[in-house]
Amino acid sequence: MAPAAIDLRSAIAQVGSEIDALFEELLPVAEDQRAPLYEAMRYASIGGGKRLRPLLVAAASQLFAIPRDSALRAGLAVECIHVYSLIHDDLPCMDDDDLRRGKPTTHKAFDECTAVLAGDCLHDLAFQVLADSRIHADPAVRIELVAELARASGPAGMAGGQMMDLMAAQADMDLGTVTRLQQLKTGALIAFCLEAAAIMARLPADERTSLRGYAHDLGLAFQIADDLLDVEGDEAVTGKKVGKDDAAGKETFVSLLGVDRARRQAQLLVDQAVDHLKTYGPEADLLRAIARFAVERDH
Ligand code: IPE
Ligand code: IPE
Ligand code: MG
Ligand code: MG
Ligand code: MG
Repeated sequence: MAPAAIDLRSAIAQVGSEIDALFEELLPVAEDQRAPLYEAMRYASIGGGKRLRPLLVAAASQLFAIPRDSALRAGLAVECIHVYSLIHDDLPCMDDDDLRRGKPTTHKAFDECTAVLAGDCLHDLAFQVLADSRIHADPAVRIELVAELARASGPAGMAGGQMMDLMAAQADMDLGTVTRLQQLKTGALIAFCLEAAAIMARLPADERTSLRGYAHDLGLAFQIADDLLDVEGDEAVTGKKVGKDDAAGKETFVSLLGVDRARRQAQLLVDQAVDHLKTYGPEADLLRAIARFAVERDH
């Protein structure tokens, strides 16, 4: 009998509701002056987004029989960093966006100060969750998770990529520089998702190569798709404004290669990403389906 086709839509819905439930548990609203801070954290993080990063952690965790609860906690940690990065990315001092995940951005729904603090606190929550013994019994594993997410979030990762992205509006950048920018801005957090599963499985370094190759190619393809959606997407479907990169004069894969070559490049990267999984059997089908979704998506 042929193996059951992967139902990516239900996998996304399932991880989405599990992550929402965990955020609900972790973020009860304090009944004092801090209430708006909790409300803003909840507003930005509950009930929205594709949850691609938690889904990646869950899909990679399946390869090593890591308990679902551990995978969800690591997935929530990286989603916290992602959501904080989106809150700050949308601020007037950065991309100045009004719409995110189909609703007003956090600084529009609350105010800028609350949005900055909500981003800061989601950043903190990520590390609180990774340090908690419920994610893994072995403290060495927890420390490795903390160190790895710190690296992926900071100047050698997402924040560094955001700095380069701000420079992309002012300076001419070649393809190599834009590739580096994308690897940091988007690729580093995506890479963490795969690495987190490898860390929790205590996989030796030489057995992490194929997952790292997959993550590298997927991260680039995913950001090219984001840049393509900025040019060709529909605001009603993406849930965020389109045409922003061009208006800001930012170099992206699309501005440098044009739409057709950028799309071919993204497809090539996805084929490469899937190829990295050839040592795995059907247990990696969800990772394969996620890679294809990364470039075929319309949101
Ligand atoms: C958008 O990320 C910003 C990028 C890093 C490309 P997503 O496309 O994953 O956004 P959500 O989480 O679904 O809202
Ligand atoms: C943001 O990239 C990536 C982050 C690290 C937040 P973009 O600025 O392209 O993301 P969107 O298009 O606003 O979602
Ligand atoms: Mg940006
Ligand atoms: Mg933006
Ligand atoms: Mg974008």
